[in-house]
Amino acid sequence: MKKRIFSGMQPSGEAHLGNYLGALRRWVEMQDEFDCVWCIVDQHAITAGGDPKEIATNVLDLAISFLAVGLDPEKSIIFVQSDVPEHTELAWLFNAVTPVGDLERMTQFKDKSQRFESIPAGVLNYPILQAADILLYKADGVPVGEDQKQHLELTRDIARKFNTAYGETFPETEPLIAEHVGRIMGLDGKAKMSKSLDNTIPVLADPEAVWTKVRTAVTDPERIRRDDPGRPEVCNVYTLHKFFATDQAREGIEEQCRQGAVGCVDCKRLLSDSIVDAFAPFREKAAELHANPSRVLEILDDGAARASVLAQQTMVEVRERMGLDWRNMIQ
Ligand code: TYM
Repeated sequence: MKKRIFSGMQPSGEAHLGNYLGALRRWVEMQDEFDCVWCIVDQHAITAGGDPKEIATNVLDLAISFLAVGLDPEKSIIFVQSDVPEHTELAWLFNAVTPVGDLERMTQFKDKSQRFESIPAGVLNYPILQAADILLYKADGVPVGEDQKQHLELTRDIARKFNTAYGETFPETEPLIAEHVGRIMGLDGKAKMSKSLDNTIPVLADPEAVWTKVRTAVTDPERIRRDDPGRPEVCNVYTLHKFFATDQAREGIEEQCRQGAVGCVDCKRLLSDSIVDAFAPFREKAAELHANPSRVLEILDDGAARASVLAQQTMVEVRERMGLDWRNMIQ
């Protein structure tokens, strides 16, 4: 039997380069080898409130990004979390086996909770819903970026605790984090690329918009004049070149940077052009899908129906183990 792979992404609009390199690119490759389930996690996106009017467009835009970069409904299940209510049911049940202390020590909780005077419980309980997403499908592996590692460790703990309390039910899911691309830095060069930090390069943006973003990228701070020798190893623009340039072209860029023979603006222009070229087929596919949203909805409906079958099987088992199929037990 093929291994089951699950992963999710929050709908905050079109996918960015961090999402693509850290996750989507690998998801596309995995489809041929594994039994894959890809989820747009809209219920995660509302843990701290948010504008209800934006959700629908964000879900549709992310679904279009998924399909444009090559996720294929013929090979994988692609669906929206809120279409399968078993996610929230299982999350509630996992509350019974999750220590509050484990939730409080999550780095993402510590970071996010600082933004609130009164912390919404959703911000604390977020990783329980994530564990439910994964374990509902009894996933063997979850391809994610480095930032999700701790949440996946907690998912394994929750599975273990559930199995101990109620009998062997869930696998201990493997986090699949790719070396080198686990943490793509943002244009500021300081923090990971993230929509909330406004330091991203959107994957499907038109050429002008990509250039507008890339030209703001922070480079080697010690390189002040154009002919100063640069240090590619500290420059995020150079790091990003590695994903788009051929080995030969990359060596050329490195050499010219060290000699001060290529200026940072020219180097950024080169990067912007490579990104625009690499993603041209995705932009084309996205334009087709934007013109035909009913096709996208059809794919998501079909995905939800297929995901529901799997989710319902797991929930029958879980309710039974937890004593919640009480009607059957009385008879
Ligand atoms: P999210 O929506 O923030 O990101 C989606 C995926 O993109 C990866 N990623 C990155 N990888 C490398 N460098 C970056 N700068 C970067 N930014 C984002 C993330 O690691 C992730 O793989 N909690 C999750 C969503 C989620 C989920 C799940 C994931 C909910 N349920 C179940 C896996 C399984 C999140 O907020 O990802």
